[in-house]
Amino acid sequence: MESALSGSAVPVKLIARQVPRLEGKVRAPGDKSVSHRALMFGALALGETVVSGLLEGEDVLCTAAALRAMGAQIVQEGPIWRVRGFGVGGGREPDGVLDLGNSGTSARLLSGILASHPFTSFMTGDGSLRRRPMQRVIEPLSRMGARFVSREGGRMPLGIVGTDEMIPIEYTLPVASAQVKSCILLAGLNTAGETTVIEPEATRDHTERMLRHFGAEVRVSDLEGRRGKRITVVGWPELKARDVVVPGDPSSAAFAVVAACIRPGSDVMVENVGLNPLRAGLYTTLQEMGANIVLENQREVGGEPVADLRVRGGGLKGMTVPPERAPTMIDEYPILAVAAACAEGTTHMLGLAELRAKESDRLSSVSAGLTANGVKHEMGPDFLIVNGVGGSPPGGGLVVTHLDHRIAMSFLVLGLATKEPVAVDDGSPIDTSFPGFAALMNGLGAKIGPA
Ligand code: S3P
Repeated sequence: MESALSGSAVPVKLIARQVPRLEGKVRAPGDKSVSHRALMFGALALGETVVSGLLEGEDVLCTAAALRAMGAQIVQEGPIWRVRGFGVGGGREPDGVLDLGNSGTSARLLSGILASHPFTSFMTGDGSLRRRPMQRVIEPLSRMGARFVSREGGRMPLGIVGTDEMIPIEYTLPVASAQVKSCILLAGLNTAGETTVIEPEATRDHTERMLRHFGAEVRVSDLEGRRGKRITVVGWPELKARDVVVPGDPSSAAFAVVAACIRPGSDVMVENVGLNPLRAGLYTTLQEMGANIVLENQREVGGEPVADLRVRGGGLKGMTVPPERAPTMIDEYPILAVAAACAEGTTHMLGLAELRAKESDRLSSVSAGLTANGVKHEMGPDFLIVNGVGGSPPGGGLVVTHLDHRIAMSFLVLGLATKEPVAVDDGSPIDTSFPGFAALMNGLGAKIGPA
């Protein structure tokens, strides 16, 4: 892991080569968003929470280390993780700087927990995380009574002067962000009275689901005439330890699914894919593009809808993806751009301003990667239009990943279809969300390896 404290990791150049088709069965790794929250809620509960299916990626391990620094006991026993919590408001002052690596989710959600404790804490991260906007959490948490010291523009490293006398607020999110929503709701736990977040666009609701699972009182209502929601949490609940089964990550599953879609003749089963409606926008979009994806064995895992996806390759056609769908597939635009490059016709992707605030400026990273591989497209401030070739794009480029795991994985998937191989300058960030990505893909017949 490249990090501010531990120094730079050695970049690992990877290359992907064209394969005729993919075939076989794989299991999606644990959901990153749910894994972070399982550890955090376990830490905020009294008793022992047992988590199974946890994603053991670097981002989640950063959250575990930070919670341990606050006094939680977190131990791994084979496939099971046991968390003994400190309870709401019961964390202790970390005695060092919390290093959150590449993980925006750790930084935003933990800032809500830290700010609602009566001590001062410090956090930093790698070169990518230190560039990402934190003002979006500084602003509401300051209104609640915490104080912050940051670099120019609200960037990390960040000093947080917390308080256990937070003021409950009603806050309308200026951007559609589940991280900011979750940050405020977590701060609201150690706040007297009711804290309310109004989100103009509904975003992933794993925090709300888990609050209920651990025994907090949460009220959610639809905004009249709009797609958003009003969410209220009642402060000072006694959260009780609960077991959590983490479903597979739809954002990680997306790479195998799109790889199968862009190689005609492929037949791939991706098992255990979480299909929370606020996360599943890519799958709706692929089906509308003509992909052959069948949902099998639909069930519930840990309170989330899950299915096995049977994907047969070929038949993708371009389309216009409506901007209101963006929050439900916000992490999937890089891999959708890869699908669009191989599809027949043009794909319009709209409402993408938030992509510029991810692990990299993803609009620019995707655009540069498409250019390097001969894919015609147009990028605007908040849109991307990709002209698909209806088969194999030229390829042959070297893609700069800017410490962004999803840029690395997306372009390696592109290389499975292109005429010439596609290389990425650094595959090491893949371990933040999908350890074992290359091995899993190669098990389906992909050719991804060191360059
Ligand atoms: C996440 C929310 C999204 C997403 C990120 C994980 C979460 O970010 O991009 O990968 O776990 O809440 P925003 O809420 O900032 O859009």
